[in-house]
Amino acid sequence: MPVRHLVQITDLHIDADPYDRKQGRDTLETLSRVVAAVRWQHPAPELVLATGDLVDDGSPDAYDRLKPVLLELGRPVSAIPGNHDLMGLMREHLADETIALTTSHSLDPWRIVMLDSTVEGETHGHLGAERLDRLDAALVAASQAHVLVVMHHQPAPIGSPLDDVGLDNAPDLYTVLDRHTNVRGLLWGHIHHVHDSTRNGVRLLGTPSTCVQFKNDPDGAFGYTDEPPAFRRLALHDDGRIETEVVWVD
Ligand SMILES: [Fe+2]
Repeated sequence: MPVRHLVQITDLHIDADPYDRKQGRDTLETLSRVVAAVRWQHPAPELVLATGDLVDDGSPDAYDRLKPVLLELGRPVSAIPGNHDLMGLMREHLADETIALTTSHSLDPWRIVMLDSTVEGETHGHLGAERLDRLDAALVAASQAHVLVVMHHQPAPIGSPLDDVGLDNAPDLYTVLDRHTNVRGLLWGHIHHVHDSTRNGVRLLGTPSTCVQFKNDPDGAFGYTDEPPAFRRLALHDDGRIETEVVWVD
């Protein structure tokens, strides 16, 4: 069985206004550089996971500016919303035959389960009963596979002010995950920072943004670092092992 190669891009924060800057950075320009770097990857990823905060201002025009850049990847894209996104606009302005929304993918012997963790109008995330039931059913259906669960919000404390706006019911998620033995990884965005830990045999991975990165300040003050844009490479092995690294794009 071949190794499955994926890429994650997250927290793109594209604006409708081409003159908007985040920490002096043009988020469409940084994304374009990340896309160019992804196109140089060997082997090429068979799927690109876009894990939310695709736009910053929740406007149709921002999605219209984003879409052609995503298409430049020349790869299938699987997107989920972040707290800055609006699912209705994603359906109208983004989804097509190469950009899938909040779905699952069979990459034998792996299943990639994309979860919407957003609460419209809120910064934090939540997985209600219906979403957890769907996840549980997906894990039952994938009992013979290795599973990577993907969402926007982090379920684990990371030691930053972002801890106040992560997934607010992580114990409910873990109750579902702990019923199954096939979950190998849990992957998210939102934190604009690297996270790599393990819980109960499940790899927990958070990934920096394609635009600007947040400081993890033990005093709890919010701030930015001068780290460059980034994306994550993932190699999913047939024994369930996840080989991964964050690639910084200078
Ligand atoms: Fe976010």
